[in-house]
Amino acid sequence: MSELKYNNTNHPLDNYDFHISSDGLPDEERKKLLKVYSKFIIEQKKRFLGYQINQNMEYENDIKQFLNCHINNVGDPYTPGNCTVNSKKMEKAVLDYYAKLWHAKLPHNQGDPESYWGYTLTMGSSEGNIYGLWNARDYLAGRKLVVDRSFGDKSVRHRRQRYLKPIVKETAKNAHTPVAFYSQDTHYSIVKAMRVLAIDTFYDIGSKYYKGKNPVDPTGSWDGYEEVPSKDGNKGGGSIDVDKLEKLVDFFASKGYPILINLNYGSTFKGAYDNVEEVEKRLMPIFTKYGLVNRKVIYDKETGDFDYRNGFWIHVDGALGVAYMPFLEMANKKDPSIKCGSVFDFRLPGVSSIVMSGHKWTGAPWPCGIFMTKVKYQITPPADPEYLGSPDSTFAGSRSGLTPIILWDYLAKHSYQKQIKMALYCENMAEYVVKQLKAVESFHNNLDLYIERSPLALTVRFRKPNDEIIFKYSLSCETLRVDGVRRHYAHLFAMCSTTKETIDELVKDLKNADAFKRKEEKIIAIQRDRGWR
Ligand SMILES: Cc1ncc(COP(=O)(O)O)c(C=O)c1O
Repeated sequence: MSELKYNNTNHPLDNYDFHISSDGLPDEERKKLLKVYSKFIIEQKKRFLGYQINQNMEYENDIKQFLNCHINNVGDPYTPGNCTVNSKKMEKAVLDYYAKLWHAKLPHNQGDPESYWGYTLTMGSSEGNIYGLWNARDYLAGRKLVVDRSFGDKSVRHRRQRYLKPIVKETAKNAHTPVAFYSQDTHYSIVKAMRVLAIDTFYDIGSKYYKGKNPVDPTGSWDGYEEVPSKDGNKGGGSIDVDKLEKLVDFFASKGYPILINLNYGSTFKGAYDNVEEVEKRLMPIFTKYGLVNRKVIYDKETGDFDYRNGFWIHVDGALGVAYMPFLEMANKKDPSIKCGSVFDFRLPGVSSIVMSGHKWTGAPWPCGIFMTKVKYQITPPADPEYLGSPDSTFAGSRSGLTPIILWDYLAKHSYQKQIKMALYCENMAEYVVKQLKAVESFHNNLDLYIERSPLALTVRFRKPNDEIIFKYSLSCETLRVDGVRRHYAHLFAMCSTTKETIDELVKDLKNADAFKRKEEKIIAIQRDRGWR
């Protein structure tokens, strides 16, 4: 494969036909095509830089013994179930590991509301985000899932379930309408979740019912406030503007709305860490002031059925960050000159749920992850057999049984000490990338390459290079408007699998004369020549 020739419209596999005929394919052809694809993937993997994925994996020898089995963890991790070809014992061990790492109360005990509950995701953090926000929405809306005993034959296993809705007082009409807040640097899975779950954001409600009253805009307008601004907008490091969040939350909490907040612990493009600790510290007094802590949710006046629930939920989307920041914190405890991020986990009583991708920090052959919350926040209250909800307490039906085995194997092979070293390696590598990119900038006569690294981020962003370089290193790109001007960025991640050799090779490619010449820039140059601009 020659080096800088390919891009997505001139793909190295374009000349191979992967079409499967109704007779299948002759063995020889099938094996040849598998080899060709494997060669392509291994080639691309060598220089994979653009996404927060650890490509270092040593699973083959340990895992191949499981590959010819369908292993399915359908249902709750803590209920063995009848699908006995499962890996739930390993799943529980993996969940315990993260519960300890994130300072949750363990072991899981369905009878102890403060203990943790979680499961391994079959998708990545996107599933965890959608599931977490679904749980949050129903919790804040005061819904309760119950078995309808008046329906059908009580002996059948799958009895009809229905939601109980809380009684809404005339004087507290907003009390069960959650309002969501998340920053402009938030992953699209959160935005998608809002649509799928029909959760209103502060923008939806503000622009509809409180026109001209935006507390953080000098004119009161909601225009441009679809999301909570990040500090210094696109110019900043990408963490949420806590002052603005505080004002917005105060505004909606004062009107009686329950508050649903997503915080990023390692945002997707800038790798920014929202200061979860500071947010919690600032918002708890607001939640207390407006009666959102432990409020009484009444279902039935006659039977006196009620619950105590918080009127707020803080979800931490920690796809990459929550997997490795604990190790930087451990390093910091030994040597305070090593910096680490804010506390983000269950040490903060305000944190309700955490999500992590398994394939990012640990590395896995397929997307996977962890969702974790506390028993008291689960929407189904399974502790009470009278109100036994669905035994299927997770998002999907079938769940990957290979994922827990992979994660278990990784954790068993990587001590805390090893992971501390790996976290420091990645932080140092990100610093090395910045230095090397600065050298590229000087090489191109100080052409502004927009080189930026947010505090502690494993990602470095810079001016988008040409399509061949993007393809060669699988770089991920984003366009941001900075000071009213559109800037085309690419970014790379310094992961455990990132080597100095790969960075040096990229730097060499970036020093080519046409490295930053993009098609659109060429068009603009032609238009200028012709006097059209
Ligand atoms: C902050 C954040 N949240 C969620 C996701 C989605 O994760 P996944 O690709 O594992 O679904 C990502 C992916 O990059 C992310 O960076």
